[in-house]
Amino acid sequence: MSQAEIIDGKAFAATLRARVADYAATFEQSAGRKAGLAVVLVGEDPASKVYVASKGKATLECGMASFEHKLPEDCDQATLLALVDRLNADPMVDGILVQLPLPRHLDEQAVVARISPDKDVDGLTPTSTGRLALGLPGLVPCTPLGSLMLLKDRLGDLSGKDAVVIGRSILVGKPMAQLLLAENCTVTIAHSRTKNLAQVVRRADIVVAAVGRPEMVKGDWLKPGACVIDVGINRLAPAEGQNRGRLVGDVDFDDALPVAGAITPVPGGVGPMTIAVLLRNALVAAHRNAGVALEDGAL
Ligand code: GUN
Repeated sequence: MSQAEIIDGKAFAATLRARVADYAATFEQSAGRKAGLAVVLVGEDPASKVYVASKGKATLECGMASFEHKLPEDCDQATLLALVDRLNADPMVDGILVQLPLPRHLDEQAVVARISPDKDVDGLTPTSTGRLALGLPGLVPCTPLGSLMLLKDRLGDLSGKDAVVIGRSILVGKPMAQLLLAENCTVTIAHSRTKNLAQVVRRADIVVAAVGRPEMVKGDWLKPGACVIDVGINRLAPAEGQNRGRLVGDVDFDDALPVAGAITPVPGGVGPMTIAVLLRNALVAAHRNAGVALEDGAL
């Protein structure tokens, strides 16, 4: 029986990071300073702490300056907004990422909206979101852009393909749909209220699963040969005698393998692309902020 090609996101991300490092060095020579990325972490969420630490490490590894700001769990809205204002005004900072989710007493939308669109490496401000919807150039959310890069690398021209995005989050589902639309796909956004989800998914040449439900998408939901991008990262309950459960995606990988044409694994698929694209976005922002030219499509 034929098996899907396993898309190696880790290798693709490593290549992109190496390219970012090359351009970061050239940028430093032209601008007389390093490109800088600031990451803000509020509170003690264990997963967020791990993400923030790996973002900081990756930033340094590609030759950019990393500024980490940690605020206590009980930090108030005004303090956080004042920090964002300070980073907006800091000429050494090209990109600002406020790690989400924020503690519940804080107004996430207001904090994100305060980030200068020129430094919005997450592509989440109303300006960035609007630019994406309007088809104007701007910074695009990292996970969807990384997913699109993997799709184009595997499929080439996406024009006319049927794409189903499962999930409608601001971070992934909605921007993913916009990006696929801009590539001339016929796009369906499915979500928790979608009827006959399996049937909807079965139409798709491209499936992007971003719902946060472990192994929800089964092999018999897929059109044979479909290209499957699994954005989910879910930790299962630990097996007897283990202290950590297995990481799985939103797609039942083993079940999908004999049906799909290509599929991203979890871990090692989309995950590594998110950080690589974050670094890419920070460097693109740095060029714009410093007025240093960067040829179209260089990164
Ligand atoms: N939390 C999980 N993913 C992300 C992301 O891409 N950006 C931010 N800011 N927070 C996140």
